[in-house]
Amino acid sequence: MAGVLKLFCVIKKYLLYTYVGCKLKNMMTRKNIFIKIFWSFLIMISAYYLYRAINYRFVNEGIGPTFWNKQFWFVSHFITAMLPLILGPFQFWVWFRNRYIELHRLLGKFYILGCLFGGLSAIYLGITQPYDGSIVPSLILATLWLFMTSAAWLTIKRKNIQAHRLFMIRSYTLTLAFVFLRILSDLVYKHNFLAFIDNQEVRDSTYEWMSWIIPLLVVEFYISWIPSIKKNKHKRAGS
Ligand code: HEM
Repeated sequence: MAGVLKLFCVIKKYLLYTYVGCKLKNMMTRKNIFIKIFWSFLIMISAYYLYRAINYRFVNEGIGPTFWNKQFWFVSHFITAMLPLILGPFQFWVWFRNRYIELHRLLGKFYILGCLFGGLSAIYLGITQPYDGSIVPSLILATLWLFMTSAAWLTIKRKNIQAHRLFMIRSYTLTLAFVFLRILSDLVYKHNFLAFIDNQEVRDSTYEWMSWIIPLLVVEFYISWIPSIKKNKHKRAGS
């Protein structure tokens, strides 16, 4: 009888482990699929808006009459800021990072240089742009971009991987403001988003602010606020 009971327990344990294992595996697969769809969508939409921005500025509108006004700034901003936009997905790709750690480090340096020069040229373009209501939001965006990226670099130099990961997420979110701004512009001009604001300048300025404040807040919510709420809960339960 004891033998049968023991056998029963072993089978029960085996079934439980297989069940939990399958559930976990399914969850992981679902998470992986979600991550793949998310990144594919992000890459496609970035490529689309990059193409449109190039077409708009370098083909239709023009980049100014002289070298300093503002050909140099547009070209250097575009070339340098493009780097973080393209390199971002590689830097976050866990498989790529684990397999090619040296390349990850090298591309990380290009990412940082791209943000640095892209951000500095953005400050100049931001100050001299013809849309008054967009000057302050683009200046604050450029400054924050420089800060988050420098913080990502400093933290990894000090081997604080967790802080580095968080600052890279913030930095790339701000890089993507380039895309969010253009999505919002399409929503405003093609789908009557913010139509309740009559004044066009106020409308433009509003979506310029929204293009980086909202993504940054969403990201902070997931990487900082929610984890800190959960952390407190664990501490109390443990004490
Ligand atoms: C995130 C911080 C960024 C800021 C604050 C910023 C700011 C600006 C500003 C002020 C302009 C000039 C707008 C005008 O005078 O009409 C501009 C143009 C441009 N930027 Fe950025 N930028 C940023 C990121 C990026 C990124 C990541 C890319 C990716 C390639 C990029 C690509 C371009 C291009 C192609 C243009 C010319 C097209 C246009 O004028 O709309 N920028 N940017």
